[in-house]
Amino acid sequence: MPKSEKTPLVIIFGGQSPEHEISCITAAYIYANLDKEAYETHLVGITKQGAFVSAEPQPEKLSAEGPAVDLLSLLQSSGETVAFPVLHGPLGEDGTIQGLFDIAGVAYVGAGVLGSAVAMDKRVCKLFLDHYGIAQAKWTSFTETEFDSSPQDVVQACVSELGLPCFVKPANMGSSIGISKAKTEDEVLEALKLAFKYDPVAVVEEAIVGREIEFAVLGNEDPKVSTGGEILPGAEFYDYNDKYFDGKSSSVIPADIPGEAMAEMQQIAAQAYKGLGLSGLSRADFLYEENGRGALLNEFNTMPGFTPISMYPKLWEHDGIAYAALIDELVALAQARFAKVSAKRITDVS
Ligand SMILES: Nc1ncnc2c1ncn2[C@@H]1O[C@H](COP(=O)(O)OP(=O)(O)O)[C@@H](O)[C@H]1O
Ligand SMILES: [Mg+2]
Repeated sequence: MPKSEKTPLVIIFGGQSPEHEISCITAAYIYANLDKEAYETHLVGITKQGAFVSAEPQPEKLSAEGPAVDLLSLLQSSGETVAFPVLHGPLGEDGTIQGLFDIAGVAYVGAGVLGSAVAMDKRVCKLFLDHYGIAQAKWTSFTETEFDSSPQDVVQACVSELGLPCFVKPANMGSSIGISKAKTEDEVLEALKLAFKYDPVAVVEEAIVGREIEFAVLGNEDPKVSTGGEILPGAEFYDYNDKYFDGKSSSVIPADIPGEAMAEMQQIAAQAYKGLGLSGLSRADFLYEENGRGALLNEFNTMPGFTPISMYPKLWEHDGIAYAALIDELVALAQARFAKVSAKRITDVS
């Protein structure tokens, strides 16, 4: 394909979240594996301070360093540009940068503003899932203001409603950052303090004794759902170190669960994906309570880990979609969504 026919692809990585480093790793793999003939690629790093820089390709891990770049001008330099926000966590996966793409008038990979924001906020996401009657762990939530005014009352409410142990999480975060499994009242108190370091809202859940089954979802209005894979955490739960550093966790594809359970989770994943208004891609994570309530939906990740050893691309590879083809499909989905959204952007009413 001649250069001029290549699709301009702006990969944006790094970001102002504790998941900055993970994003730098994911982006290096995406760049290394995408079809260089098909895309005119620009790498834009967001530093931890929030500056946009033009970055160089690096093997294994990009770094958000380089000369300043005017992201808005770059995005708008061609009518064909597709933005690929390879960003995890707040200010990346939560609808904020998606708003910038909407303002710029460019196609982008993944969920839009609302879907990203809803899926990112564990409290709001749980409210939606309850609304659709989708089974999940029992949960409650508190604001930092409520906690500060009466910490012991909040701890008591968690213990009486959910029992011990319980999981305490910041409403907006990822990669298990700020999450604790609390086994005593004192630990619940400490866990809440930790969660409020990251977000003014904390979500508390009953601890599920279950298996972690994950599904890759791909599509816009009519998404397809992959075979499920199982995470076998190497630590007491699938925490930050276990996810990225210890390497003790492992995965099994397909998950060794009954066919009906697999099919039920696939159906729930598609229903929830549509209900949350997601598009592009997402990983649906379940806690599967064997001999109990069965499938409990834990969360959606709208920009899941994307290295070739990450669950999301591995699930599609198992189902016959190779890594580079997956990127092509994501770009095509971004373009399709953009065409639909743009058609409804009406500036004059006559
Ligand atoms: N209610 C729960 N019961 C049992 N384990 C849980 C529960 N909530 C979270 N976990 C464990 O903690 C991990 C991280 O929690 P999760 O809600 O997925 O947060 P994150 O968005 O940071 O990935 C899960 O992968 C799982 O191992
Ligand atoms: Mg998770």
